[in-house]
Amino acid sequence: MRYLLGLDIGTSGTKTALFDEYGNTIKTATYGYELFQPKAGWAEQEPDAWWEACVNGIKTVIEKSKVSPKDIKGIGLSGQMHGLVLVDKDYKVIRNSIIWCDQRTEKECNYMTEVIGKEKLIKITGNPALTGFTLSKLLWVRNNEPLNYKKIYKILLPKDYIRLKLTNVFATEVSDASGMQMLDINTRNWSEEILEKLNIDKNILAEVYESVVVSGHVTEEASRLTNLAVGTPVVGGAGDQAAGAVGNGIVNEGIISVSMGTSGVVFAATDTPRFDKEGRVHTLCHAVPNKWHVMGVTQGAGLSLNWFKRTFCKSEVMESEASKVNIYDLLTEKASNSKPGSNGIIYLPYLMGERTPHIDPNVKGAFLGVSLINNHDDFIRSVLEGVSFSLKNCLDLLQHMNISIDEIRVSGGGAESKVWRQITADIFGYSLNTVKASEGGALGVAILAGVGAGIYTSVEDACSKIIKGNDKIEPNLSLKETYKEVYEKYNSAYPKIKNF
Ligand code: XUL
Repeated sequence: MRYLLGLDIGTSGTKTALFDEYGNTIKTATYGYELFQPKAGWAEQEPDAWWEACVNGIKTVIEKSKVSPKDIKGIGLSGQMHGLVLVDKDYKVIRNSIIWCDQRTEKECNYMTEVIGKEKLIKITGNPALTGFTLSKLLWVRNNEPLNYKKIYKILLPKDYIRLKLTNVFATEVSDASGMQMLDINTRNWSEEILEKLNIDKNILAEVYESVVVSGHVTEEASRLTNLAVGTPVVGGAGDQAAGAVGNGIVNEGIISVSMGTSGVVFAATDTPRFDKEGRVHTLCHAVPNKWHVMGVTQGAGLSLNWFKRTFCKSEVMESEASKVNIYDLLTEKASNSKPGSNGIIYLPYLMGERTPHIDPNVKGAFLGVSLINNHDDFIRSVLEGVSFSLKNCLDLLQHMNISIDEIRVSGGGAESKVWRQITADIFGYSLNTVKASEGGALGVAILAGVGAGIYTSVEDACSKIIKGNDKIEPNLSLKETYKEVYEKYNSAYPKIKNF
């Protein structure tokens, strides 16, 4: 039997997953690390903590699965996108990585828009200047830490730092590189124009590959640390969203995905680059050769429910510990005691600003419409509904761009709740499917590795064989009018509170 390894270097931890060539999960291991917030709105991590988690994860799955390392035919890397890793000429990390959710770069974004222009930025990079993306973080280091900037030999994305540790090669691939905002997503190569206008030396960028192409091989040193076989091929891989999409079979036009993780993402694969004139959704290269994708992002999806739990649900947490019922199952069950529309409460999920559709790093969240009739269940339900309304904003934009929607697949922690899935189906007015594969991003990049290793003929072919449908939830059409009314109220709120 041939095996494939997928690594997903996430924000809270790294998941390492070993699959057989039919896509069955053999073993997984997850190791966590810290997130540092030196100031409000800042977010940093240590690249070597990611590497340690990868080493432990790989060693664990090899040992527990008893699979012979030489039967692992390929490795795929996925991970949190946009993070800036600075490496010096001795291949050492210069400072902590400034990661995707860090919001310190508003000034640098204004500068990018001034020098290049919003329209041009969208045309070349698929996006307006964004605080989350890598380029503004690099400019921030140049402006604020010139000594660190001078030491730069190469800049890397989080998963590409792991590639360096595994293979000693500086490389990236098109899906994640698109989120750096220095790639021309039309030609799938670095943009000379962006680099020249912003005076950035192209030599600090890694080689950019298609996601299925082998970029390097496991070195002796990495083999000694991880027990992987020397020479195991490592393919380009993908940013976590494109990887998750491959793992859910979102590789052709018509099937779109809604992922309800910490952030929420509505994602569609496209055969040509498709843009929103205002740049309210991201347009990026897909991990499938010659395909692109668009995605709308809600910053605070699962994050909202997690925050609500930590802040307002002490007694429910105790109840869950005593009854051994998962806290999120317990909370979403309580939400079903309230009514569609949460008895008048509208929750705006802007705890970390918002991307789609407002692109506003400063807007704050809110509960609106609270009155004496409301109870705790209404508040929980309003959090679920508010997140689903924000996801509907993303869906509306895709429809507005004439992207066809034949099927919607939901995934992520939030989608594990039947109540939240139903609320989302009712608000969308679409049926929602789930798929059997639960390893999302790790499976996605294992599939890419299988294509690179010659096990599958194409990503599309592998997905059609491996990804199988599961549950289907139908929308309750009798709620259409109620939710239409509440959705209109939800949409009318942002302009009223945006400067609060
Ligand atoms: C995508 C994004 C997140 C991060 C962290 O644009 O910011 O998905 O990759 O998961």
